[in-house]
Amino acid sequence: MTERPRRLRRNERLRGLIRETSLQARQLILPVFMQEREGREAIPSLPGVTRQGPQALLATAREALGLGLAGLALFPVLPEGQKDPEGLAGLDPEGLLPQSVRALKRTFPELLVITDIALDPYSSTGHDGLVGPGGEVLNDASVARLAEMAVMHARAGADVVAPSDMMDGRVGAIRAALDQSGYQEVAILSYSTKYASSYYGPFRSALDSAPRHGDKASYQMDPAGGYREAIRESRLDSEQGADFLMVKPALAYLDVLRILRERFELPILAYNVSGEYAMVKAAAERGMLDERAVVLENLLSIRRAGADAILSYHALDAARWLQQV
Ligand code: PBG
Repeated sequence: MTERPRRLRRNERLRGLIRETSLQARQLILPVFMQEREGREAIPSLPGVTRQGPQALLATAREALGLGLAGLALFPVLPEGQKDPEGLAGLDPEGLLPQSVRALKRTFPELLVITDIALDPYSSTGHDGLVGPGGEVLNDASVARLAEMAVMHARAGADVVAPSDMMDGRVGAIRAALDQSGYQEVAILSYSTKYASSYYGPFRSALDSAPRHGDKASYQMDPAGGYREAIRESRLDSEQGADFLMVKPALAYLDVLRILRERFELPILAYNVSGEYAMVKAAAERGMLDERAVVLENLLSIRRAGADAILSYHALDAARWLQQV
């Protein structure tokens, strides 16, 4: 035998010498659910994740910074009574989200604050865009709203705005609106390759934002679609001025991540979504697998597939575990 690959796996020094993939806290972003009420409220579909009031949010930010995370991705949870069919609460500069952004940036100027651009947290329809009379999700009217929302978030101090709505042309419209308002420095993290996935279930229970009619298949991508559609969406968002691309969900779409990594220059983030988190937590709670080992393996695999950074509900735990290894 001339080749014996096991020779380089004989001990930790040899394995460490040739290891190609790394995972570090600075590559992790924690998605956070916020509520107006002080305190922390458990989310049954996401064990270990809470809806956080203003004080709790600041405590989480302090912990995230202490552990070396890049920052937080914020998702507001609104009571049903504040939602309406057009999601107008999403444009209120005194709303929960902009107030939280201001508080975070005032206390922790160095924290990366990423805000979600879509109507679903605010809309009584549960859809990411405006809904027309026939129940269809309107594209161009929605894009105008989303661009307005992005400027409002930038004004509140968001470092990065992240359109997750999948309307056509929104990245270009958001870039133009930000630039016109003097926010050239605010970056766009486009949810460029976002699938119509059942893995978002726990997130939708957390926000109580499941679509009230129909589904999101007319705007989010078909999981059975091929790489050409993924490439096309990424190309369009790159051309329109996105600063980062994203693949979402992560684990069931690592092949898409790899293909896009090879084709595009922009940094690519992956969203390790709520259902992916819930599966690991449920199995770990039942003693079926070693949570710490599996989480670190999943995150490492997302990095190996080509993600520069990862949004994950495991981010705080992972950062803690990384300090121990
Ligand atoms: C919607 C949005 C969703 C998620 C992030 N932004 C859900 C959806 O598209 O219905 C899901 C994230 C997760 O499952 O963790 N704008």
